[in-house]
Amino acid sequence: MKKKLFIKTYGCQMNVYDSGRMADVLAPLGYEPVDAPEGADMVILNTCHIREKAAEKVYSELGRIRTLQKDKATEGGRMVVAVAGCVAQAEGAEIMLRAPHVDMVFGPQTYHQLPEMVTRAVRGTGGVVNIDFPVESKFDLMPEETAKPNGPSAFLSVQEGCDKFCTFCVVPYTRGAEFSRPVGQVLAEARRLADLGAVELTLLGQNVNAYHGEAPDDSTWGLGRLLRALAEVPGVKRLRYTTSHPRDMDDDLIAAHGELPALMPFIHLPVQSGSDRILAAMNRKHTADDYRRIIDRLRAARPDLALSSDFIVGFPGESDQDFADTLRLVTDVGFAQAYSFKYSARPGTPAAGMDGRQVPEDMKDSRLQALQQLLNAQQVAFNEGLVGTVQPILFDRVGKKPGQLLGRSPFMQSVHAIAPSRLLGQVVDVRITGAHANSLGGEVVTVDGLSVIETTPAPAGRQAEERV
Ligand code: SAH
Ligand code: SF4
Ligand code: F3S
Repeated sequence: MKKKLFIKTYGCQMNVYDSGRMADVLAPLGYEPVDAPEGADMVILNTCHIREKAAEKVYSELGRIRTLQKDKATEGGRMVVAVAGCVAQAEGAEIMLRAPHVDMVFGPQTYHQLPEMVTRAVRGTGGVVNIDFPVESKFDLMPEETAKPNGPSAFLSVQEGCDKFCTFCVVPYTRGAEFSRPVGQVLAEARRLADLGAVELTLLGQNVNAYHGEAPDDSTWGLGRLLRALAEVPGVKRLRYTTSHPRDMDDDLIAAHGELPALMPFIHLPVQSGSDRILAAMNRKHTADDYRRIIDRLRAARPDLALSSDFIVGFPGESDQDFADTLRLVTDVGFAQAYSFKYSARPGTPAAGMDGRQVPEDMKDSRLQALQQLLNAQQVAFNEGLVGTVQPILFDRVGKKPGQLLGRSPFMQSVHAIAPSRLLGQVVDVRITGAHANSLGGEVVTVDGLSVIETTPAPAGRQAEERV
């Protein structure tokens, strides 16, 4: 009989990808993914440790799961509860002290060992804790991707871990050392995903542009070269990558943005702060002007490039002047969207120990508000600037309103339009007619004035459908 597997994912896209792979690893053991934890045979929380709030969510969820686990036991069944991901890596066996009903705790580099961990947990001789960084690569040992990508857009992990040790960040400790998957493995997975119907590939990595994968001829490829090869994979129409680091934005990658039409004109390039003093204290190893210059070079290569970023306010020692420098950088660059966070002291990171320099909470609040106001205004202006233009939209979901499809613009905005469902998975020209803070509205258009909605016969024996 099939066993029900419920996986709840927190944190970054790397975790979203990993959750899919865990389901792949567990499928041969008879586990089938379900949408709700009630009655599940196994519940995995794939957790995030990046900020305190993210980590605390796990414990409240574990409380709710405890009730469901008891319900299942009353019915004579057993619910195995597992904590995976970055909280598991950071806290290890501590989790079982706080939540004794947890059966398994395992870190991000151990997912290929899941079958044996599950066997041990199901036998029920005490909890299983595995927070090793094994010498072998999980990517070599996990089964091939079998699940269909969720819609026409798929993630592909190419790089993992981080050696940069920004002083605020837990990732180098939770994900381990930087590692790039070999070129052959990445290309094979890309072909498989394209065969399964993926039109858009988003390459993932904590520092994806630090990619340096080994090619079959023993040479080492950077991300630019990898993107060029991926653009040749039949069926792949769009490429993206995330998250990148300013220090790894090399000439070849910048050139790729000018050369590859499939490479979407949108980059998430976190800068964290606009103050050189704070950037140095964060160990980012670049200045605010270095960042400005990188943006200039990227825009020279691809003039319509839109940018996104991450910001931290209230890093230890951040003065009013430092914060003003951040606002100035935002004004200078102009972002299409961005994420901003209050600094959260993370156990074991150098910045958490910068005693006496921590910024008071109310000051963090007011700085966050001011920064978000500026960023939101830029986002609205960017969205409004597209009204009246025609954008290629990849329709990937059915919308809430009848007859409506949702898709993504080249700049990652959500776009809704009335469109027939046969256009799902296709890149279609859409005239943008309205802008909201977080989405755009539009109308499907076609070349030669042919509507794809009305079934006007196409000239020269071609069907209108072929043209979209
Ligand atoms: N590798 C990426 C970021 C990964 S973490 C990079 O180098 O930019 C995602 C974002 O979370 C970071 O960009 C940062 O803005 C935020 N973040 C990380 N640690 C944080 C902390 N301790 N407090 C608040 N925000 C943090
Ligand atoms: Fe964290 Fe810095 Fe590494 Fe990004 S580069 S994951 S912020 S340590
Ligand atoms: Fe969170 Fe781990 Fe990703 S800490 S942001 S889930 S790498």
